[in-house]
Amino acid sequence: MSFTDRVFCGELTPDDAGRHVLLAGWVDAFRDHGGLLFVHLRDRSGIIQIVFSPEVAGTDLCRKAASLRSEYCIAVRGVVKKRIAGTENPHIETGSIEVMVTDLNVLSESDALPFPISEKAMVAGASSAGADSVSEDLRLQYRYLDLRRPSMQENLRARHRIFRCVREFLDSRGFVEIETPALTASTPEGARDYLVPSRLHPQTFYALPQSPQLFKQLLMVAGIERYFQLARCFRDEDLRPNRQPEFTQLDIEASFIDEEFIYELVEELTARMFAIGGITLQRPFPRLTWNEAIDTTGSDRPDLRFDLRFVDVTDVFTQTNYSIFKQILQRGGCIKGLNVKGQSERLSKNVLQNEYAKEIAPSFGAKGMTWMRAEHGRLESNIVQFFSARELDELRKRFDVADGDVLIMIADPSYAVVTSALGQLRLHLANRLGLIPADTFCPVWITEFPLFEPTEDGGITSSHHPFTAPDRTDFDPKNIEELLKLRSRAYDLVINGEELGGGSIRINSRELQRKIFTALGLSEEEIKDRFGFFLRAFDFGPPPHGGLALGMDRTVSMILQTPSIREVIAFPKNRSAACPLTGAPSAVKREQLAELGLLNLGGQAVLPGTAQKEDRVDRISWLSRIGIAPEERQLMEATLNRAEELASLAEEKAGEEDPVYGVAPVANRTRPGTEARRSPLSESGQLLRGAPAVKGNYYKTATILE
Ligand code: AMO
Repeated sequence: MSFTDRVFCGELTPDDAGRHVLLAGWVDAFRDHGGLLFVHLRDRSGIIQIVFSPEVAGTDLCRKAASLRSEYCIAVRGVVKKRIAGTENPHIETGSIEVMVTDLNVLSESDALPFPISEKAMVAGASSAGADSVSEDLRLQYRYLDLRRPSMQENLRARHRIFRCVREFLDSRGFVEIETPALTASTPEGARDYLVPSRLHPQTFYALPQSPQLFKQLLMVAGIERYFQLARCFRDEDLRPNRQPEFTQLDIEASFIDEEFIYELVEELTARMFAIGGITLQRPFPRLTWNEAIDTTGSDRPDLRFDLRFVDVTDVFTQTNYSIFKQILQRGGCIKGLNVKGQSERLSKNVLQNEYAKEIAPSFGAKGMTWMRAEHGRLESNIVQFFSARELDELRKRFDVADGDVLIMIADPSYAVVTSALGQLRLHLANRLGLIPADTFCPVWITEFPLFEPTEDGGITSSHHPFTAPDRTDFDPKNIEELLKLRSRAYDLVINGEELGGGSIRINSRELQRKIFTALGLSEEEIKDRFGFFLRAFDFGPPPHGGLALGMDRTVSMILQTPSIREVIAFPKNRSAACPLTGAPSAVKREQLAELGLLNLGGQAVLPGTAQKEDRVDRISWLSRIGIAPEERQLMEATLNRAEELASLAEEKAGEEDPVYGVAPVANRTRPGTEARRSPLSESGQLLRGAPAVKGNYYKTATILE
């Protein structure tokens, strides 16, 4: 059948009344009205009601139409007609018209659906089933059906419009879109790599890029000056609602620029992208240094839609008699608090003491929490009697206290504990009390990050990545204390507490880059091995440069206000990094592994059991996760040989004899010692001495063993 004169359902208007049209799409919903059949026909543009009536369509066609079911793919010819007054449907754009069908062609049928697709009710005031309560894995397994839903199609279209806006804007500023390789060497962005084995070079691997960082810097050395890419990045890291193992970055890099260039460019671009979603962003975006952000909100991605900023009150208590504060201050600690304005009715003494001080604050890492409620011109709390009138007066001033306010304070010897716990309390309180305004967007640049962060093993790691320029270059790469004090020329774009993007001005001196690698603990050999090609490029006149990457899935999701980034990705992975549609990741055949040289990777350390290929003892030890001591090997070998003999015997006899259900003759067997007896070790209390948790005469085991 030819579709050349096809028109789109959603594009018909009352002006088309009387027009003969060919429509094609899917049966969104249907309603049988005793002889009259109403169908919602849906295509990429929208929905229109089509009507099968015996007068216009004839009885044969009406009978044929009665067999239509949801999601049948059909084409119809018919005449556009205005609906009778009072039968209009406000749920669809074309609700004031319908098409009287004269011809029907069923293009393909559909099985019963795993979940409803229709989102538009057929009559005014009714509601449609929707897919909101459907499990996400089922939606992902049938993603092609999920994507038929108009709301999902709108998400993908909006994503397309936002991507188009990016391309047009950056093109207008002289940026060139360039693709960089997906099969590459590792790029350090702090996550694990996804590795791809090479068949032509057995036992070697490509890494999928965590970002195009190294290549975009090489493009600057190459004199491109202004580059961008809508790049797919791959990171094997713990999943969160705003993370995917593979995601899309808008990656930008430019030469002969400074931070101001990036701020202006990205603010203009972000404002344009948000405008596509009808959101106006106020410019210029405010800026906070990392120190200010931590000091006043406890977070390097602060949510500025509500206030609840921290006030430092350490100095108020330098002479205090309150012993807890006194001890904390003697240990060099600090005290910070926030004023929850006008909320004392909703934060009763009971809630503050029993929920926040006893449960919630400790779960955020604080050892305790002090609260005070302002009532009748005074501060009230369970410990207010320990504070002097001067201290209470000063608190009132610092927090600008009025009746109805609630003060929350955290004191701790560690500044990090105070800011982190109070930061989490800030968010908890804002959510609980509904202090976060809807439809509000508060962008902020976070600047002057620490260049390095301490690691658990006493070393350091880059806060951003090792190519970020430090604020000064005269540091000693071996002095960890000094290194941890360095600031970087990095910046993050944060909106509503979410990090949308990050970048930095880069190092463009080979000596400095080497020094940073050395500070990170890389030996000369490691530097050469991993970054030799990169450093070599810096021998050839690298320009000063910098850039940034915006997480596009996060950006689109925020603009469209979807509950997760998976709603704006056509085929995302689920919460456990798997794809319910294709079943990826999946096992591969041994032949495929062999072809890739992955069955005998050098030595046990790499892949126990497969290392010595078919060494059965190692393999079984690996599969069963039971270590086999050298002296046990012989016995194990003998047992396996015996098992193999029995197996081949069984194979020979297969079909000849009836199967047996046990290898031992059927008999009642008991172990010696049927009398219950208490172990003397148990009597003396020795038996459970090493048990981690004991209850009465029992010890607790992990759930898996229960
Ligand atoms: P960074 O690692 O900060 O910087 O990443 C930039 C932005 O990418 C987004 N993002 C993610 N989105 C979804 N799922 C993930 N797993 C994920 N990880 C990161 C975030 C983040 O802000 N090469 C540097 C940029 C540069 O220096 O120019 C980089 O990749 O929105």
